[in-house]
Amino acid sequence: MKSILFVCLGNICRSPMAEEVFRQHVIKMGKEDEWIIDSAGIGAWHVGNLPDHRMRRAAASHGYELTMRARQVKSSDFDSFDYIVAMDEENVHDLQRVAADIEKSKKILKMASFLSEHPGQHTIPDPYYGEEKDFHFVIELLEDSVKGLWEEVRKE
Ligand code: 4NP
Repeated sequence: MKSILFVCLGNICRSPMAEEVFRQHVIKMGKEDEWIIDSAGIGAWHVGNLPDHRMRRAAASHGYELTMRARQVKSSDFDSFDYIVAMDEENVHDLQRVAADIEKSKKILKMASFLSEHPGQHTIPDPYYGEEKDFHFVIELLEDSVKGLWEEVRKE
């Protein structure tokens, strides 16, 4: 089995969405039996909650259903998962502090580094204080980056 964990600040907008976009891609590729897919947040504010209603609504309009519950990332995630995928630079920085050592922190990847159809876009921006269009943009960016991410992780 291979395993991948998507991480954002709150685990109620970007990372649950990334988890589901990646899962649907893996299902499309017929590889769902080979992957453990999960998401977590840097902060504990929303632990146990469903994804934000605005993210769920945008997701539904793109054909995705978000039913997972938020949890906080933990140091042992760096033992359990092969890949830890951060949504922005702040997440990378925070994750480096959660990782036990430099070796473990090498598992951290940045989602936006796999974008191919959005030149000049270097982050999956936090939509929490934004408006409806920002949630749709998150999905657009995730659908783009998941393709590149898949090409990277399917090989090993
Ligand atoms: P996320 O969005 O990191 O994409 O889940 C956020 C959710 C909640 C907060 C910030 C960002 N918050 O400050 O509560």
